[in-house]
Amino acid sequence: MKVELRKHISEILLSLQIPISFEVYNCNNEVLPKWTEQLQLTHEFLVCCEKTAEIKKLQSFLGKPIFEIENHIYWFDGNRTVAIGLAEIEILPERTEKKIDCLKTRTALPAWLDDFIFDHLNAEYAPDFKTFGYNLDSTKEDNLKYLGTYFPRSYAESFCIFDNIFQNMNYQNTLSENKSLNILSVGCGTGGDLIGLLTIVEKYCHNVSEIKIWAIDGNEEALEIFENIIRQFRFQTSKIIELHVIKNIFPSILDVDLQQIKEYTFDFILSFKMICEIILSGAGSNDNSYFDFVMKFTPLLSSKGLCLLLDVTTKAEHNNSFNPILMNWQVNQALLKLEIFQTLLPLPCNFYEQVCMEQCFTQQKFQVSHKQKTNDISKVCYRVIGRVEFINRLVSRRKNVKYILQTDKQNMTTAFCPHSIGEIIMDGYKLIN
Ligand SMILES: C[S@@+](CC[C@H](N)C(=O)[O-])C[C@H]1O[C@@H](n2cnc3c(N)ncnc32)[C@H](O)[C@@H]1O
Repeated sequence: MKVELRKHISEILLSLQIPISFEVYNCNNEVLPKWTEQLQLTHEFLVCCEKTAEIKKLQSFLGKPIFEIENHIYWFDGNRTVAIGLAEIEILPERTEKKIDCLKTRTALPAWLDDFIFDHLNAEYAPDFKTFGYNLDSTKEDNLKYLGTYFPRSYAESFCIFDNIFQNMNYQNTLSENKSLNILSVGCGTGGDLIGLLTIVEKYCHNVSEIKIWAIDGNEEALEIFENIIRQFRFQTSKIIELHVIKNIFPSILDVDLQQIKEYTFDFILSFKMICEIILSGAGSNDNSYFDFVMKFTPLLSSKGLCLLLDVTTKAEHNNSFNPILMNWQVNQALLKLEIFQTLLPLPCNFYEQVCMEQCFTQQKFQVSHKQKTNDISKVCYRVIGRVEFINRLVSRRKNVKYILQTDKQNMTTAFCPHSIGEIIMDGYKLIN
């Protein structure tokens, strides 16, 4: 592992033309240099180099933070040895836990959707994270298994996240001025994320009479299923649904063809569990895809638009970093460049993203029930992003608050954003009025 890591770093330095020497230490069993005594060792490997002026270039290529100390720069690699990327982990007394007002993360498929996908389309609940780790080439049969297993999960995640956002009165009032909404989904697949959002729009946006959807994906079978579901959704709503399906296979985010959407702005941009597949298929060449996505798509948001970027919390085999760590780091880097955009959720990212240098593993659990499974659990990481001016109208900053970013009921641990310090404990995922 250390040998491979050395080779990998040599190749990176060579290709970036940064001629510096470096050393890799296994933090678990090697003697480390004296200056590392002041560091918190968070991972299996510590990589140190002499100082270089090319830190930014190297940092953006590696997709992880590089730190400076004395005459050295260093970063961590390999598996995490400190539990997760959040500095503070605590066991909360049950009494405190009960008092925290948390995001609602459990829902069920609406009856019409449950009936339609299982009884009419013949979806099947058949979890298999290996097969469904990559879906671009899925057959019709695979897509029906995806529909019965992962579609409901995406539905629930989207439904719960937007249900909370729409309860913010400033958001609801601003959006209710709209008669028409534009929605873009990149990597929509069978469209669980879109149907979750449409169900929320139906619940809250009574003034909206027209919804235009642009749905991009490379898998024709999945798009066909999605079109079928939209046809059925039209019976559930009085709104006009205009659907533009765009079949596009893109080798990387930079290659997504914007020709058909470039004259529009969007009130919602969704991308659920697609970037993990782009990273996987790139075998190293697409590792910066969260950064690329934010740079390419957030400028397409309308003045009150929100982009929900969501992914699974696993990692690609070729990459040492888990998706949430890549997502959080790269979104922060992109937003430093795109100054007029900001994170809305998780809330601590809204407050601290400009100064955050953490390798932050965030994870939220959702549960969905349907005909073939009760309380099926999914684990995801996500960021909601919008224009600074608009986001500022939705968030009020509170003092003395410590934000929860991950709860593990099984191990009875709670992890907090290390930047948030205070006595009041709040859920980092729950937007409040
Ligand atoms: C895990 S599925 C997610 C689908 C949907 N967003 C959801 O949450 O249920 C990922 C989708 O990304 C699409 N995808 C992956 N790589 C792609 C590529 N290179 N070009 C176009 N689509 C791609 C797949 O076809 C698949 O439908």
